[in-house]
Amino acid sequence: MPYGVKLKGLGGNDMKEFAFLPKTRDAIIASAEAKDVDGEFIINQKAKALHPDYQALTVREIIDHVDAKTYILGNEDGSPVAYFKAGQYLSLQFIIDNSIITRPYSISSSPQWSLLGKYAVTIRRNPGGFAADKIIDTLRTGDKVIASAPEGSFFYDPIRDGKSVIALAGGSGITPFLSMAYAIRDGIEDFNLTIIYGSRDDKSILFKDELKSITNDCAKVKVVHVLSEETRDDCESGFITAELISKYLPSNGTCSIFMCGPEAMYNFVGKEVEKLGIDNKFIRKELQSVTKDVASQPGYPADCKDQVYNVKLIRGNAVYEFSASANEPVLVAIERAGIAAPSRCRCGECGWCRSKLLKGNVFIPEGTDGRRKADKDYGYIHPCASFPVSDIEIEVPGVYTE
Ligand code: FES
Repeated sequence: MPYGVKLKGLGGNDMKEFAFLPKTRDAIIASAEAKDVDGEFIINQKAKALHPDYQALTVREIIDHVDAKTYILGNEDGSPVAYFKAGQYLSLQFIIDNSIITRPYSISSSPQWSLLGKYAVTIRRNPGGFAADKIIDTLRTGDKVIASAPEGSFFYDPIRDGKSVIALAGGSGITPFLSMAYAIRDGIEDFNLTIIYGSRDDKSILFKDELKSITNDCAKVKVVHVLSEETRDDCESGFITAELISKYLPSNGTCSIFMCGPEAMYNFVGKEVEKLGIDNKFIRKELQSVTKDVASQPGYPADCKDQVYNVKLIRGNAVYEFSASANEPVLVAIERAGIAAPSRCRCGECGWCRSKLLKGNVFIPEGTDGRRKADKDYGYIHPCASFPVSDIEIEVPGVYTE
């Protein structure tokens, strides 16, 4: 036999049976009655439970933090919610000032919680923003919230990632890492996680006690607090620099760097990470939004800053006209106009908001252009990551509601 492979008798029979399988299948199909299948296959039920179109959840509990709140969302009867990989997010749908809007929030609880019928998400105040403060000021225990299935690819993958992960977090960017830490502690994930968490001062650290408790229970999780405006013996001082990260890199083996935090953190820490010379494939970023200062992006047409443009939007048979600030993504203008448009990640990655640009031009910052080549060639845009630089005409798909 070539390559020294020896076929045993039983193996040969298996191969023969396998070769006959298509014929057997065709005979069963040919002899079967032509009628609809009764009921639903278990595999379809399982797929639906794991990947529902949406989940109608209830706010079961609210936990206060200094400038944020954690919402425990779940099924009222405690039945399981869709399972997730630690690091994924939920896109939550709210009605604010007569607008249906969606916002993505990383799940901060252990995947185990989903079997108990609940998730935790944390929303941090964002003065001047369109949604966060209004959600925090109005969402009450008992309110209903429509959530997507768990989404996103910001999770640990043993095939792709190193055995150790250095997680760089800023502000509420700690939430996906808290979920990963719980998952390691609960035996769901198996990797070494060192979280380097930047905060202004001790009192603005989110989940300090929870992180402490996990590190006490689980040697695979370490947490290093870095304070920029306070000096403490048990914390690093200053910012998350290349020098500081180097202190915590594993001495042997490959490690992955995961980053999650506000735009200012990526602008600074991203450059520091580059200095470490780590292969790009081991560097992962979870963007929580697109840029808040589009005019500072390379290639932005400077004379468009602060302009207001007209938008003509077509959805099915309906046509809407409204204005849009050049400084905000088209999706925000759509929501401000009270029009429901689909979205999930809100940072150009998932394609859920994919729409056809019929007329006009938009500016798409380089780091958030997640379109496929064919979409670029045929005039599709992701409105969540596209800023108008002229009057535009756009066709958007529908949106789910309960
Ligand atoms: S919402 Fe994900 S690409 Fe726009």
